Amino acid sequence: MMDESRVTSHESRAEGDAAVESQRPDTGSPQDSRLATHESPSNAFTLDNQAGIAVVTFDLPGQPVNKLTSAARLELEGLLNQLREDDTVRGVVLISGKPDNFIAGADIEEFTALTTQAQAERLSFEGQETVSRVETFHKPIVAAINGACLGGGLELALACHYRIATDHPKTQLGLPEVQLGLIPGAGGCQRLPRLIGARAALDMILTGRAERAAKALRLGLVDEVVSRSILRQVASAAADRLARQGAPQRNSPGSWLLDRTTTGRRLVYRESRKQILKKTGGHYPAPLAALEAVRVGLEQGVAAGLAEEHRAFGELAVGDVSRKLVQIFFATTALKKDDGIPPGKATPRQIRRLAVVGSGFMGAGIAGTAVLNVEVDTRLKDTELTRVGKGLKTAQALLSERLERRRLTRPQYERLSALLSGAVDYAGFRQADLVIEAVFEDLEIKRRVLAEVEAQVRSDTIFATNTSTIPIRQIASQAKRPERILGMHFFSPVEKMPLLEVIPTLATSPDTLVTAVRFGRRMGKTVIVVADRPGFWVNRILSPYLNETGHLLQEGVPIERIDRVMTAFGFPVGPVALLDEVGLDVAEKAGAVMQDAFGERMRPAGTLSRMLGATRLGRKNGQGFYKYKKGHKAGVDRSVYQLLGVHPAEADPELIERRLLYAMLNEAAMACAEDVVRSPRDGDIGAIFGIGFPAFRGGPLRMIDDLGAGRVVETLYQLQEQFGERFRPAASLLEMSRGSRRYYPA
Ligand code: NAI
Repeated sequence: MMDESRVTSHESRAEGDAAVESQRPDTGSPQDSRLATHESPSNAFTLDNQAGIAVVTFDLPGQPVNKLTSAARLELEGLLNQLREDDTVRGVVLISGKPDNFIAGADIEEFTALTTQAQAERLSFEGQETVSRVETFHKPIVAAINGACLGGGLELALACHYRIATDHPKTQLGLPEVQLGLIPGAGGCQRLPRLIGARAALDMILTGRAERAAKALRLGLVDEVVSRSILRQVASAAADRLARQGAPQRNSPGSWLLDRTTTGRRLVYRESRKQILKKTGGHYPAPLAALEAVRVGLEQGVAAGLAEEHRAFGELAVGDVSRKLVQIFFATTALKKDDGIPPGKATPRQIRRLAVVGSGFMGAGIAGTAVLNVEVDTRLKDTELTRVGKGLKTAQALLSERLERRRLTRPQYERLSALLSGAVDYAGFRQADLVIEAVFEDLEIKRRVLAEVEAQVRSDTIFATNTSTIPIRQIASQAKRPERILGMHFFSPVEKMPLLEVIPTLATSPDTLVTAVRFGRRMGKTVIVVADRPGFWVNRILSPYLNETGHLLQEGVPIERIDRVMTAFGFPVGPVALLDEVGLDVAEKAGAVMQDAFGERMRPAGTLSRMLGATRLGRKNGQGFYKYKKGHKAGVDRSVYQLLGVHPAEADPELIERRLLYAMLNEAAMACAEDVVRSPRDGDIGAIFGIGFPAFRGGPLRMIDDLGAGRVVETLYQLQEQFGERFRPAASLLEMSRGSRRYYPA
């Protein structure tokens, strides 16, 4: 049963054990938790011995997916002990009883119960122990993988002696721990590099990306790919073969130079480190910790690697960043089940046909994403044929890109392409179950389009507007069927941005709301239901932040300085670059709507009108605060300073950050108090997914809790004194500071 990919072997096990044993995390009473969980077995495994091959089926009761809970892990260990003693068993197949899930990973709920680093280290250590027992099992174990095989699930599969995956699209293998601020803590940082080479393994571990079966086979991550219908059969045959002939010989993975020489690997580590720091700005410790665990393992041996792995896991699991990322994970998971209305109060309708009015930038993106993700028949309508053609081409390009990346097969691509059509009239709208309007941001045009659509569609057709600023009730004010109208506010680019704001009016029916929420979710979006207030949630809290950027620019603060301060804070792009992306005309229009609604507090600094006076629209016409060459940002356009009538002069980075951040925090507090979002959870998710608010900070409302409302108020008072009324603290913050209240339970 020897093979090069194994981190422990019968021969090295004793030595490895001793080394690992000496590293066992000291948590006081090492056996307590094990005994406790022993008493409540998970009843997750069943055993079926067929002609000497034991098929172990994992099916965690009452759960849609298999999770390696501590109880399940112990049950598996018990089962292995039983199989070890059973002379009639020659080989083992580990398979899942869930329809499209092998093992989704460890039980993240258990992580949240950890209070000390020592406890977290021990959890990781025990995971390593279980997985090592699988690897050193003296009879062959074959992992039969159908569906998601992630995190602890893949770590377990890596310890098996042979891996077979199905070609089902849901079969994906990956180690997503870094996305939760953690590292693979059950030997994944050791086994994966040994199996597929350091470079390929680091690529998977550091991004958390999951691979489909075909790619997994190319990487050497699995040994065979089969169709789902024969998985169990092929796996049993493989176990039988391995029992008779021993494990297959595997070639050394990766390239000789970069994966198998110390010098080459050193280069790989250095390059990875550089990439991580570039991507994370040093805010996320997990990728660096994972890199270190891989490095120690490869350079100092498995025992040292495992020890580093559980040590780092322990440190990260109780650290602030992981806590925040886990909270976000739970929030998005909860949102996947949240229809924006209490269960049972509404009936979602099936959307079989979609129509989109306006085949511009957003309309085309919405159409392409809907075809791709929902596979729904989609009709695009615009005023001119050339525009329709352009929109169809843009939507089609999303499909082509998937084809090129082999995410779609040729027949799938052909089938989806056939779902897209377009016209300059409303032909076919009678069949539409949902119409999404994405025409110019102009109330009169939107009202007219709504009236035209209502004249064409069935009485049960839902009409959603993608307006970014106009209150939905104004668009719907003359509608024949206001109960069928609501807002679906997508973000650009639609195919990439994960958020959708769904905005019911007081007249919107519950069925309409739940149908839109479910459809948005099927489009792959995280959906928050927000109130019909100007700017809804995301643009509401963005507005004062962008206005403050305008004030800074008017004071002569250098463009690159402003952007650098906020990217260092953790935003993916700085606010000035963001203005260029959004379009200065669009931003100005939105700013005016917000000022109308909220008055002086939201008065723009005048920067954008000066820019627009010189027909600077941002990236779209290649002229903004930045220069653009062939669509790429090419440095700050210094002539802007003259246009604004300022001389750039350095400014205190801390003050820049404080002004921009607190403008947003204060607005978030106000909007939250007005119930623009249904909960702080929705507000924080909206800010993170809609604006790119740094996830490791948990969102603006979570940040207010972390800082303490009292401190936020104090800072706002200082800013108010220095910069004026726009920084007057929100009444809700004052109230919170007086009562020591928080948005989230402490
Ligand atoms: P766009 O200018 O790219 O596209 C608008 C399209 O609507 C044009 O092709 C135009 O010919 C068409 N149109 C105008 N009147 C029409 C009519 N009566 N019937 C059919 N088609 C008509 O604009 P974009 O950026 O796609 O914006 C569309 C809507 O989406 C706006 O309400 C905007 O506020 C909103 N939005 C825009 C975002 C962005 O980042 N661009 C983000 C979120 C929402």
